Amino acid sequence: MKSEIAILDFGSQYTHLITRRIRELGVKAHIYPTNTSATKLGSAFGLILSGGPRSLIKEPHIKFDKNIFNLQVPILGLCYGHQLLADYFGGDVKSDRAREYGLAEIKISDSPIFLKLPLKTSVWMSHGDHVDKLPKGFQQIAMTDNRSIAAMQNLEQRIYGFQFHPEVTHTEFGQKMLSNFVFNICRAQKNWTNKSMLAELIKQIKIDAGSKKVFQLISGGVDSAVSFALLQKALGSKRVAGLYIDNGFMRLQETGAIKRAFTKAGFNNITFYDASEFFLKNVSDIIDPEKKRHIIGDTFLNIADEIMRKNGLSNRDWLLGQGTIYPDTIESGGTKNSDLIKTHHNRVPRVQKMISAGLIIEPIKELYKDEVRLIGQQLGLPTTLINRHPFPGPGLAIRVLCNQGTTAKPTRLNWPDKKIQLFKLPIQSVGVQGDERSYAHPGVIVCSKNIAWEKLRILAPQITNQIKGINRVLILSAGNAKNFLTATPHSAYLTKNRLGILRQLDALVNDIIKKYYSKNNIWQMPIVLLPFGNSTGNSLVLRPVESKEAMTVSFAALPNKILKKITSAVLKTALVDFIFYDITNKPPGTIEWE
Ligand code: XMP
Repeated sequence: MKSEIAILDFGSQYTHLITRRIRELGVKAHIYPTNTSATKLGSAFGLILSGGPRSLIKEPHIKFDKNIFNLQVPILGLCYGHQLLADYFGGDVKSDRAREYGLAEIKISDSPIFLKLPLKTSVWMSHGDHVDKLPKGFQQIAMTDNRSIAAMQNLEQRIYGFQFHPEVTHTEFGQKMLSNFVFNICRAQKNWTNKSMLAELIKQIKIDAGSKKVFQLISGGVDSAVSFALLQKALGSKRVAGLYIDNGFMRLQETGAIKRAFTKAGFNNITFYDASEFFLKNVSDIIDPEKKRHIIGDTFLNIADEIMRKNGLSNRDWLLGQGTIYPDTIESGGTKNSDLIKTHHNRVPRVQKMISAGLIIEPIKELYKDEVRLIGQQLGLPTTLINRHPFPGPGLAIRVLCNQGTTAKPTRLNWPDKKIQLFKLPIQSVGVQGDERSYAHPGVIVCSKNIAWEKLRILAPQITNQIKGINRVLILSAGNAKNFLTATPHSAYLTKNRLGILRQLDALVNDIIKKYYSKNNIWQMPIVLLPFGNSTGNSLVLRPVESKEAMTVSFAALPNKILKKITSAVLKTALVDFIFYDITNKPPGTIEWE
C-alpha cells in the first residue's frame, strides 16, 4: 500500500524542511540516503530529489539507483535534483551565468504543479549552476528575469523540476506548489497529524533511554529547556538531572535570570557550575571561528565529564542529554551529502563519537525551533523560557570577532549605480551559498542619505550575487565616513575586556528595543563586535533578523527613529568607531558571523 512521500537526500541544507512541509500537509514523509535501492521506494506516493552542495559540472555525479525512473511514480527534482533530472534525460546544465541567492520573481505557465497560482510570484533561489537546455519531452513552465529555466515538466511521465526551493517559507506559494504535487499529481492520502508529535517524542525517549538515567546539559535557551522537560515527562524527575555550565559568554546578568526562571518553573534538580575562567583561557589565542567552536564544544564535554565523575555518575547508568535541534545537525555537515557550514557546539567530533557509542540522547534533534516552542507550550513551560530569542551555545564568544591585525583598508568595489559607494571590508565572516559554506568579506554601502529599506532588500542580494567573494552586505549606519576609508583590522582576541564591551553594548541596544519597539517581528538580534576601527579599534554590527526556523532568514528593518536612538546611544559610549547594519538574508549570509 502507498504510504509516504520519499525524499532522496542529495545534501541540501533544506532537505529536512521538505519533509516537514509535506507533514504539514498531513502526509507522511521520509528522507532516504542517495544509495537507497529503488525497490525500497516502491511504496511511495511520489519521490522528491533534494538540492545539494555539489556541482554536476565540476564534480562527479552523486550515484543513485536509476531504477527509480521505472517505479512509475511522480518525481519532483529541486535545485540539484532539477539539474540531475535535466542531465539524466539529455538536457544541458551550465555553470555561473545565473548565480542566484535570494528572492527572484518567476513567470509561470499552465501546469498541474502550478494550479491556482498567480502568473507572477516570488521564489527562493540558492544556486550557481543552472539548466541551460531542456531534455527532450520536457517543457519549460517557469522563467526568471534572467531567462533561466526555473521549472520544467514532462507531463506524460509526471516528472517535474524546480530550480528554486518551494520548501522554504520565503517562496511565496511554495506550500501550494508542494500541495499540488502531493495531492493533484501524486494523489497522496492524508495519513499524518501534528498533534501526535508529543506522544511520538515521549515514546521514542522511553525506547532510546532504556533503563538508563539522563544527565542533561542546559544552556538556558528554549531547546535545552524543552528537551529537559520532555525527558522528565517521559522518564520522571528521579531519572533526570540537569547541569547548567556558565561558560562566561552569556549576556549581562543572564545566568541569574536563567536560574530564577528554572526555579520558578519548578525544576529543582539542576546543578549550576561556573566555568567562565576556564572557557576564556581555552580560547584566549584563537582567531579561526571553527577552532573556537570546537574548543568550546570540547570544553563543555570535559566539564560535564568531570562533574559526572565527581558525583559518581557512570556512563553505564547515565546518558548525556543534549537539546540539539535539526539546524544544528544539518549546518554541522551532519548528513551524508551535506556541507559543513559551522560546527554547532553540540556537534563537535567528540560528541559524534559518543553518539556512535550510544552515550548521548537528543530528544528534539529532528525538530525546528518553532516546533520546539510548540512542544514547550504543550508541556506547560512558562513563556519566559519558551519565547526567549534564540541564543547560540557558544554565546557571545562567536560574536566577538578576533584578528591578528593587518594594514588592509576598505577597498572600493565597482558598482554600476554611481550613487552607491561600495567597499570591501577587510574582515571575513561565515555564510551559506548554494548549500555550501563560504568564508568571505562583507560589502559596505556608504551613503550620506538614508536608502529606503525596500530598495536595500533588492540591492543587497544583487551585490552578493554579482560580486564574487562578497557574502554579506552592510550599511555604514554611524561613524565618520572619511575615517572609515583609512580604518584597519586590529590585533584583537577574546578577552574579558572585549567581552565586557560587547555585553555592555548588547544590553544597551536591547534595552532600547524593549523600551521603544516592543511590538516587532525580530526573531533574533545578534550584536557583533568587529576588531576594525581607528581610535577605539572596534566596530559594532547590528544583525536583527526575521525567521521561522533559522534555515532561511530575512534581515529585519528597524524603524529609522529607533535606529537613530541606538546609534547615538552606542556612539556616546565611545567604545566603537563605526556601527554597521547587516542587511544580508540567509542565504547568502548566516545569522551569526562565525
Ligand atoms: P546561523 O548563524 O547558522 O545560526 O544562521 C542559526 C541559529 O543557530 C544558532 N547557533 C547555535 N546554536 N549552538 C547552538 O545551540 C551553536 O553552536 C550555534 N551556532 C549558531 C544561531 O544563534 C541561530 O539562531
